[in-house]
Amino acid sequence: MKFEIKNRDASGRICRFYTKHGKVTTPALLPVINPNRMPITPKEMKRLFGTEMVITNSYIIRKDEKLKEKAIEKGVHNLIDFDGPIMTDSGTFQSYKYRNVKIDPLEIVEFQRDIGSDVGTILDVFGTPDQTEKKAKEGLQETIKRAKQSMEVKGNMILACTIQGSVYPNLRKICAEKLSDINAEFFPIGGVVPLMENQRYSELTRCILASKKGLNPSRPVHLFGAGHPMIFPLAVALGCDFFDSSAYIKYANDGRMLFPDGTKKLEDLDELPCFCPICTKVTSLELKKMKKSERILQMAKHNLYVSFAELKKIKCAISEGNLWELVERRACSNPYLLEAMKELRKNENKRWLEHFEPIYKNKALFYTGSQTFHRPILYRCHKRLINRYKFSSNSAVILPEGEKPYSKHFSEVIGEILAKRNNLEIVVNSHYGPVPIKLDEMYPFAQSIFPESTDKETEESAEKIFNEFMKGKKVIFWRGKRSLKKSFKSQEIMKENIDLLRISAVADMQFGKNVSKTLFCGKIRIVKSKKTGKIRNIYCDDKHILSMRAGDGMFTLKIKGAKMLHNFFKYPKFRVTVQEEAVPFVKDGKSVFAKFVIDCDKELRPYDECLIVNKNDDLLATGRCLLNKLEMSSFNFGMAVKTREHID
Ligand code: GUN
Ligand code: ZN
Repeated sequence: MKFEIKNRDASGRICRFYTKHGKVTTPALLPVINPNRMPITPKEMKRLFGTEMVITNSYIIRKDEKLKEKAIEKGVHNLIDFDGPIMTDSGTFQSYKYRNVKIDPLEIVEFQRDIGSDVGTILDVFGTPDQTEKKAKEGLQETIKRAKQSMEVKGNMILACTIQGSVYPNLRKICAEKLSDINAEFFPIGGVVPLMENQRYSELTRCILASKKGLNPSRPVHLFGAGHPMIFPLAVALGCDFFDSSAYIKYANDGRMLFPDGTKKLEDLDELPCFCPICTKVTSLELKKMKKSERILQMAKHNLYVSFAELKKIKCAISEGNLWELVERRACSNPYLLEAMKELRKNENKRWLEHFEPIYKNKALFYTGSQTFHRPILYRCHKRLINRYKFSSNSAVILPEGEKPYSKHFSEVIGEILAKRNNLEIVVNSHYGPVPIKLDEMYPFAQSIFPESTDKETEESAEKIFNEFMKGKKVIFWRGKRSLKKSFKSQEIMKENIDLLRISAVADMQFGKNVSKTLFCGKIRIVKSKKTGKIRNIYCDDKHILSMRAGDGMFTLKIKGAKMLHNFFKYPKFRVTVQEEAVPFVKDGKSVFAKFVIDCDKELRPYDECLIVNKNDDLLATGRCLLNKLEMSSFNFGMAVKTREHID
C-alpha cells in the first residue's frame, strides 16, 4: 500500500493514495454507489465532480444472484462501469440496521477480493453509542479477531479494518493500536453514523481523536458514513482522509439540500442559496414543480457539487495554512459543532495536535472567535515562551496592544525606554498573550490579525498566559515617560546590541532553550536587507550559519550552523538518522524518503529545520522536515525531509 503526505496543515494532510486502478488525492469523498440504482453513474460523477474513487457494497452485490454472477465473472469495475479505484463495504451497516442479516466474516472478504475491489472492508461489529462499555469491548474483540483472520485471506486487495469501540475513547484507542499491530493498511472509523445523525459532534470528535491517537499515522483514515460537508473541515483537521457519502442521495430523496453550514429543506426555500451548475439553471419553484425522480436527481447533483466544493476548499486551506480558520468558521454555523470545538481546548488534545502542527504557515493567523486562542500553534508558542524564552532583565516594561510590527509602531516609546535603561525587557500585552518585542517579527506574533477588541474568554486566557510568563518579574505598565522615572534610579549599560538579542530570542524559541548561546558564541555579524531593514543573514566568525526568512521571521539552517549544532548537541537532538543506503543520495542533495529514516529527534515538528546524519552520527546535510518522529518512523513511502544544504 502506497500512501504519502504531499502537504499538510493542522493535523490534516493532503496525501496521495495509490491503488491498482490509479491514484487518489485525499482528502477524498467516495460517493456511495448502489449497483441496483445509479441515478448518477460513477462515470458521470467523475465527469461532473471530478470524483476519483467510489464505494459500493459487496453485501448488496452478493445477495443478488445476477449482480453476484456478473461481479464474479467480470469484476466490480465492470459491474458499475468505472475504471477508477473502488472501495467496497462488507454489510456491517446492513446487519446493524436490519437484524436478520446473515454474513460470514471471511466469505465476504474473499468475495470482495474475488470481484477485484481495490479496498475491501472487514465485517466489523458495529458498536452503537448506547452500548455498555462491556458490550462495546466484546464487539471490539470480535472485530479485531475478524480483522486478523481477514488479513490472511485478503490477497493483494487493500483491507480496511474498521475501528470500533462505541463512544469509549479508551476502547477506540486500544482498537486502533491492535489494528495497527496487525499491520492493517486502511482504517475506517466506524460506528459513528448514529452520532452524526443526532449531531452528537462532541462525542464524534472524541472518537476521532482517540482513534487517531492509537493509530499508525502513515495509514489512510476513513470516517465511515460521513457524507455531510459540514463535518468535513473538522474531520480533516483531526486527520481523516476519506469520507463516503450516501447522504447526497438520501437527503435528496428526503427533499433536503446539503450546504457546508447545514441542511435546508427545498420546501422552505424561496430562493436557492447556491451557485452550483444545478442551482444556476433552475429556480426553487421550478425545482419544486419537477417530476419527483427528476427533482431527486437534480438535488442529488447539487448535494454532490456542494460536497466536492467543500473538499476543494479544504485542500486550498491546507495549502494556504489556514485550515483551523475554516474549521472555526464552519463550527460557528452549528451550535453542536461549536460545542465539539471545546474538545480541542483540552490540554491532552492540544498536546497531541501540537505534534502535527507545522512550525510556520504561508498565511497570517486570523482571529475568528474565542476558539482561535486554542489553536495548537498558539499553545506551542505559549509553552515555548514559558520554557525557552530568556529575559535580559528581571524588569519589563509592558506596552499595550498596537499595530504591527510592534517595534515599528512603538519605536519612539522603545527609544525612550532604552535611553533610560537599555537592558529592559519590553513586552507587548497582546490579544493572544505576551509578545517580547524581540520576537515581534516571528511567526505567528507578527503574522496574526486580531480585531481591536476580542472576547472575554480570549482576554482571560491571554491574561493567564501573561501572568505565567511574567511570574517573578518586575512589571511596569507603560503610561508615558513618567512610568520609568518613578521605578528606576540606576542606569545600566546594555552589553549586547538589540539585533543580537533579537536573533538570540528567535533561536531559543525555534531551536530550544539556550541554543542561541552555542550558535552565537563567536564574532557575530548580522546582515540586513537594504530594502526592508530586516535581518537576513547571520555570520559567526565569518561563517554563514543562519538565514532569516522574511515571511515568518524564522531561521533556515545553513550547513555551517548545522555543524555547530551537531558539535554542541548530542544525538539525537535535531537529528534525522538515515540508512547507509540513502547516504549517497543525501550527499548529492536529494531529499530523504521516509523509508530510509532510522530514527529522529522526538522534538522535531513538521517544517522544522533538522540535521541529517548517518548511523554513526556523521553530519551529512541540513534539511526541512515534512514529518514528525511518529510519522517518520511509520511512513514507508514519500518524502520525510527536504534536503537544504549538504556537506561537500
Ligand atoms: N458504514 C457506516 N458505518 C459503518 C461501520 O461502522 N462499519 C462498516 N463496515 N460500514 C459502515
Ligand atoms: Zn446548488
